[in-house]
Amino acid sequence: MNNLWNKQVQSTELLYFSRLESFNEITKNTFFKLLQVKEGMKILEVGCGGGTFCNIIKQNFPTCKVYGIDLDTDHIEFAKKKAKELKVDVNYSVADINKLPFKNGEFDLVYSHTVVEHLPFKNFIKEQKRVLKKGGKLIIMRVLMEEKNNADQPFLVCEDEINACYGKMEFEPQTISPAKYLESPNLTMQHLEENGFKNIDVSFDRIVYYNPDCTTKTIAKKQIKRNYETKLYYALFNLQKAKNGENLRAELLQLLEKQYKERLKLLEQNKKIFDYQSTKKVTFSAIKG
Ligand SMILES: C[S@@+](CC[C@H](N)C(=O)[O-])C[C@H]1O[C@@H](n2cnc3c(N)ncnc32)[C@H](O)[C@@H]1O
Repeated sequence: MNNLWNKQVQSTELLYFSRLESFNEITKNTFFKLLQVKEGMKILEVGCGGGTFCNIIKQNFPTCKVYGIDLDTDHIEFAKKKAKELKVDVNYSVADINKLPFKNGEFDLVYSHTVVEHLPFKNFIKEQKRVLKKGGKLIIMRVLMEEKNNADQPFLVCEDEINACYGKMEFEPQTISPAKYLESPNLTMQHLEENGFKNIDVSFDRIVYYNPDCTTKTIAKKQIKRNYETKLYYALFNLQKAKNGENLRAELLQLLEKQYKERLKLLEQNKKIFDYQSTKKVTFSAIKG
């Protein structure tokens, strides 16, 4: 059993809910375009975490056959449970990117989201290339960490107190170093070429995924709730990891709840603060030659 990612880097819930926050009813078409999904495709996501992307793809492209693999057993257990709950037919399995449990040339599309930076490129690509059919599409998406992401949430009550709680947390050193293999976009493109891929392309996109004052009230409420859930799961994950987490737990959770309720109140009162969050993505696409 390998659940190091869930235990040390990001809990499954944090991963799932943070992705659900960014891949939503407003941004989904941008994601579909970047991932180049089309009806009828056989699709594999490598490093699928809790399965947010796979589930949304299957819900919107019902004739696709969707597969998701991840090394972390807790992530896959969660993904299977969630898919059942949502009644989406996605095939999840625990597997290592270095040894994919599929035949040669099975897939029309193989993609990943925020995985490439965690492995040496030659390990990352070898098996994906093998399971892609000739002429099949490879998509690699990650956050553009070279530039600071823009998160602008002004006038949030309790923000300083929340940050102070995080400042007091004490952690043990962890054994996983995420993003150890982060490389520049042009190096990734060179690597794709060296590995025999054709039609290599790159795109840089900013996705605005939280802008409650710019949309309908129903969507705004959902966005605010999702934003709260992401913050909540981030807090729970850190509280559980911190040596002194138990002492800070009640205070931090209360502050987050207060912040959530105050934000909802502003929306109800039509007091617009135009807070928003966005993420910059770099997406590589290439064809197996
Ligand atoms: C940042 S998370 C991204 C998860 C998912 N793609 C998403 O965006 O929600 C990176 C994921 O890669 C997985 N991973 C890391 N090394 C792996 C490997 N060798 N084989 C399969 N999955 C791996 C981790 O378990 C983790 O779920």
